[in-house]
Amino acid sequence: MNKTYITGTGVWTPPHVITNEELVASFNEYVRRYNERNHAAIEAGDVVALLPSSVEFIEKASGIKQRYVIDKAGVLDPDRMYPHIPERSNDQISIMAEIGALAGKQALEAAGRDAAEVDLVIAACANFQRPYPAIAIEIQDTLGCGGYGYDMNVACSAGTFGIEQAANAVRSGQARCALVIGPEICSGHLEWRDRDCHFIFGDVATAVVVEAEPSGRQKHLWEILGSRAATSFSNNIRNNSGFLDRCEEGGRRDARDKLFVQEGRKVFKEVCPMAATHISDHLAQHGLKPTDVQRFWLHQANLSMNQFISRRLLGRDATPEEAPVILDKYANTASAGSIIAFHQNQADLPSGATGIMCSFGAGYSIGSHVLRRA
Ligand code: COA
Repeated sequence: MNKTYITGTGVWTPPHVITNEELVASFNEYVRRYNERNHAAIEAGDVVALLPSSVEFIEKASGIKQRYVIDKAGVLDPDRMYPHIPERSNDQISIMAEIGALAGKQALEAAGRDAAEVDLVIAACANFQRPYPAIAIEIQDTLGCGGYGYDMNVACSAGTFGIEQAANAVRSGQARCALVIGPEICSGHLEWRDRDCHFIFGDVATAVVVEAEPSGRQKHLWEILGSRAATSFSNNIRNNSGFLDRCEEGGRRDARDKLFVQEGRKVFKEVCPMAATHISDHLAQHGLKPTDVQRFWLHQANLSMNQFISRRLLGRDATPEEAPVILDKYANTASAGSIIAFHQNQADLPSGATGIMCSFGAGYSIGSHVLRRA
């Protein structure tokens, strides 16, 4: 069995930022217009008035201060409240392949690799814009990679599960150089008109190079000591849209559950202890305790969740260096969060340092990698 390494990472960040102030102003204008339009029905008790959102609530409940999005104008237009992403012809590169390839180029450059040396491309994310041909194959073609490619979706853990798949392929000799791409366009599956969750998500694309024999030109080198993937079925985070929608009776194609829905409180209560146990068990497999770990690159959905998990593991609050936070700037980017945290917060660690990357979310699904700096 070969050793496996993360030899490069890349993050493509969209050009547009939406601050909480801008988001709340647009949402509250939508609420004002809705309530005005439905004034008589609300007075008669036939329609429930919508409540406004607040910046204070968002920051206290989630730790999110802003998010990057592919299109700002569409999201903030109170008469629309979802992004403009124009349809492209089959002759043009798809938006997911385009942003994925941009992140992929960065990761290959960091790894000191040419695209032609890649022999496996995995596109791993929470939502795909089409069933086929696979976005991964389009990225393979765009970058000029060889070998094979496929798409996989394990919601918020697609990224860590994708790295696990890549590491297994490299470890077994099935592939030599794997590229795991996470093009997350979360603005497309978020109901921006729902006060309970309108602040949660942002867009991004990530890329990770996994290989057995580093080029020697890589900027950073992390050995994957081990990977651990776990799932446990839950209805608490769901998106019911799919290819059978048109077959359903009763015209539910625009129903609320055809976008992201969650029972946020239940998710919080159930997933945090699961993730803490998962991490400590995974570390124990490698003879490690949480206090042996210099850095926790945790999933980035909610600041309090990460604080809860760190406290469970360390018996105290983690410092910002130990458990870096990127959700304040990026919001929840589904499966990309722990990879962005790793990308932006690993260069300072010395050779021999140990870290753990861990994602958790819908499914439920939890994925982790114990990493050691070579
Ligand atoms: N502005 C102001 N008030 C709001 C609001 C908003 N945007 N959204 C909800 N509220 C109100 C609620 O109406 C409720 O009021 P009440 O107490 O009078 O009933 C109160 O704030 C608390 O709402 P609640 O939904 O219980 O908030 P919360 O503290 O659980 O925080 C989440 C909500 C979503 C931030 C939190 O549950 C969470 O992050 N859960 C985990 C989510 C997650 O990681 N999911 C994974 C996705 S991949």
